[in-house]
Amino acid sequence: MPAISRSACGKAILLGEHAVVHNQPAIAVPLSSKRAKVTVEPHILAPTGKIRVFSPLLDLDHDLTTLPENHPVFQAVRLTLSELNILQTPSCTLHITSTLPISSGLGSSAALAVATTRALSEFLGHPLDLETVNRIAFECETYVHGKPSGIDNTVVTYEKPILFQKGKNTEIFQPGKTFFFVLADSGVYKSTWATVASLAKDLEREPTRIQPKLEEIGQLSLQGKQALLDGDISSLAAAINRNQSILEELDLSCPELDLLIAKSREAGALAAKLTGGGNGGHMLALVEENSLQPVLETLQELSGGKAFYTSLDPEENLR
Ligand code: MEV
Repeated sequence: MPAISRSACGKAILLGEHAVVHNQPAIAVPLSSKRAKVTVEPHILAPTGKIRVFSPLLDLDHDLTTLPENHPVFQAVRLTLSELNILQTPSCTLHITSTLPISSGLGSSAALAVATTRALSEFLGHPLDLETVNRIAFECETYVHGKPSGIDNTVVTYEKPILFQKGKNTEIFQPGKTFFFVLADSGVYKSTWATVASLAKDLEREPTRIQPKLEEIGQLSLQGKQALLDGDISSLAAAINRNQSILEELDLSCPELDLLIAKSREAGALAAKLTGGGNGGHMLALVEENSLQPVLETLQELSGGKAFYTSLDPEENLR
């Protein structure tokens, strides 16, 4: 049995996080340059069924059975074996590497689940199709995040820009022109489980204040999708900036994010907002090509080097 390596990308939510949990549409894009990679290596000498999980980066060197239940790798292995009706595996090591920061809004748990599911199923000689990988990754996300909408596992599985709405067919689309974004880490780590639960509580307490805001975010996602299709950067910028104002009203930002957002706008970004679970994690700025460098430099300096840029490219998505 040869070793098998598979990787999965990170993701950024352009519009609609949180509202998507409450049935509104949202837009997510893949971050193809930031990836989690899982290599499954056979371990001929170990007793059958032993799975070792090894990742110096994640500080892991464990027998799989000792990982916590809410670990995406633990769940991805369990669910993949159950999907394939395999009761006992050949002994192997899952070697994990990643260029995706953890717990910071870029989809690291979904990427780990997708990469593990793909690598293990192929190692066992039964590669799973994308739909099944996506279903397994969603189930993994429920252990990690509580009540996920499903947007993270979907964009990570298909690695395409998507308009996602719970209970509806996911739309994969191509932007009409190249768009540039700079992302930066606020350095504050907040669990998505906690921010999703806190908004759900607020919605229950004050539905007449919160529900219209969620619906407006949903409308902004639809505006954003049209703007991406039309190559209309002004309309996309307006949607992103308004989305951030609403997220602030919903108490999902934090001073560190607010600072990065304000400074990126001062440095020439057309728009900026938090991305992902909020109250910490990453922000993203929409920039024109000629202001990419000043915005990147500003955010690099403020985040201690934890900023990078990405582009959404029509040709890329034709592949
Ligand atoms: C997290 O990346 C996005 C949230 O909307 C949660 C979810 O959709 O599951 C905050």
